[in-house]
Amino acid sequence: MARRKYIVGNWKMNGLLAALGEAAAIFAAAKDHAGVDVALCPPFTLIRPMIAAVPGAAVGGQDCHAAASGAFTGSVAAPMLADIGATLTIVGHSERREGFGESDADVQAKAEAALGAGLDVILCVGEPREVRESGEAVDYVLAQIAGSLPADFDAARLAIAYEPIWAIGTGLVPTVGDVAAMHGAIRAKLAEQAGEGAARTMRILYGGSVNGDNAAELLGAGDVDGALVGGASLTAVKFVPIIAAGAAL
Ligand code: PGA
Repeated sequence: MARRKYIVGNWKMNGLLAALGEAAAIFAAAKDHAGVDVALCPPFTLIRPMIAAVPGAAVGGQDCHAAASGAFTGSVAAPMLADIGATLTIVGHSERREGFGESDADVQAKAEAALGAGLDVILCVGEPREVRESGEAVDYVLAQIAGSLPADFDAARLAIAYEPIWAIGTGLVPTVGDVAAMHGAIRAKLAEQAGEGAARTMRILYGGSVNGDNAAELLGAGDVDGALVGGASLTAVKFVPIIAAGAAL
């Protein structure tokens, strides 16, 4: 069976209660594109209000702690996300790996905690600019997968997001050929590590400066099953064309 396209918005540290109208407009428009799965990951503070405003919408976290509870000031546990109705969470975003020193082992533990709490997971990987320039991007990303993929998981509930760090928020994007090559290498790695069936089922999203103008081309690249979108997911005007591009494929 063909993999359904998956378009996910990562609002990062953006959005007050006043932004709920944008979420409502996004999910309303998504209903016109029933062949595509759409999710939003707002800041923790907006998860519950967003679910209340748009019942049934797929709303998730941008991170979770690996422990279920405990003395971890400022952190949020996966069962807490599930408790308020979140259905997914991102783990291993480069802004967490780089800014908060998260290792592959940390990301793996978070992914396992999230799956254990019943959340779907989007596990992010991606190389910094100097690694891309040195020609070692594929090896770098496959090593991240080797270190951060959970040992045992339901392939339908875990997606990978390939997000080259130099493309995030910069307006720069890799060539479609480079995206297809990386996604193909990731899928081969998933087959080796998790089995052929899992690799066929798992969705691999591209992220990094996706917008309404480049979405059709990027989503049409080989082995690309969706997009993880930052800046262009904050408003319906910018995000809905990306959903539409996914639906048109
Ligand atoms: P961007 O962010 O779309 O603003 O480049 C993508 C991401 O970090 O997930």
